[in-house]
Amino acid sequence: MKLQDKHVWITGASRGIGLATAQEMHKRGAFLHLCLRNIDEAEKKRVLDNFSTKERIKFYDLDLSSRQSLDLFCQQRLEEKSVIDIFFHNGGLLTGGLLENQNLDEIYQMYQVNLLAPTHLSHTLAPLMLARPEAFAIYNSSVSGILYLPCATTYAAAKSGLAALARCLESELKGTNLKTMVLFTPGIKTRMYDQISELYGQHLDLSALSSISADVYAQKICHAVEAGKTELWPRGSVRLALFLARFSPKAFRYLSTLGFKR
Ligand SMILES: NC(=O)c1ccc[n+]([C@@H]2O[C@H](COP(=O)([O-])OP(=O)(O)OC[C@H]3O[C@@H](n4cnc5c(N)ncnc54)[C@H](OP(=O)(O)O)[C@@H]3O)[C@@H](O)[C@H]2O)c1
Repeated sequence: MKLQDKHVWITGASRGIGLATAQEMHKRGAFLHLCLRNIDEAEKKRVLDNFSTKERIKFYDLDLSSRQSLDLFCQQRLEEKSVIDIFFHNGGLLTGGLLENQNLDEIYQMYQVNLLAPTHLSHTLAPLMLARPEAFAIYNSSVSGILYLPCATTYAAAKSGLAALARCLESELKGTNLKTMVLFTPGIKTRMYDQISELYGQHLDLSALSSISADVYAQKICHAVEAGKTELWPRGSVRLALFLARFSPKAFRYLSTLGFKR
């Protein structure tokens, strides 16, 4: 799908992958609908300063952790008959560490933001997307959705759930104009990436961890959209690890727990 003149909605557009993808899509001629929580004029200005022009950019208040906020956002979209060509389910939170040490409130919030919110939005906005000549729903999962590492229990469960949602939908939407794409996102240098060592570093050897910039990843996402891909996989050693985890889970478990300390 060409991005020129398409109406793209992005959650978690305040920073990181969401903001970088918004910038790249805007350069390619898309109209942006940026969904952020607690937006005020200062926050809008901060985000807009990342773009060469303020044209073709609108803001929406959406707190993914709140059912009430999701209901209100969806109700407004349905009432306004908003044009949604692409919806990028990107906003997310990281949890991690030994399961018994993770904070239960944070786990609930993470499932809400990472899994329930995209489910809610996909469910309720589907009629608007199905009404378009062509539409695309993008789900930002993670390599954690396939690599089942210690310390990643809750986050991996949410991200593999998100990938399952996208893949089931792909089958369910067969023959319609609405396509899905799931991103098996690798390490991307954002605030979330910086949290990995804090949450996992005490128990796991992270020396092999690598990252690319959000700008480079945004270009890959745009290219995948324009090529009509249904999945975006990382390249190099991470891709090999994904294949090993998927096709030889015992070997993957053995190798990936060599440096693990409880
Ligand atoms: N970075 C990586 O290495 C990596 C790897 C795999 C997958 N991912 C996935 O990529 C996505 C983007 O992450 P990122 O790396 O760009 O991280 P980030 O820089 O921490 O950005 C996270 C985004 O999610 C938003 N968000 C969090 N909670 C929210 C809520 N309750 N309501 C609305 N927005 C909320 C944040 O908004 P605020 O500014 O308001 O907090 C922010 O815009 C996430 O789904 C993440 O799981 C990232």
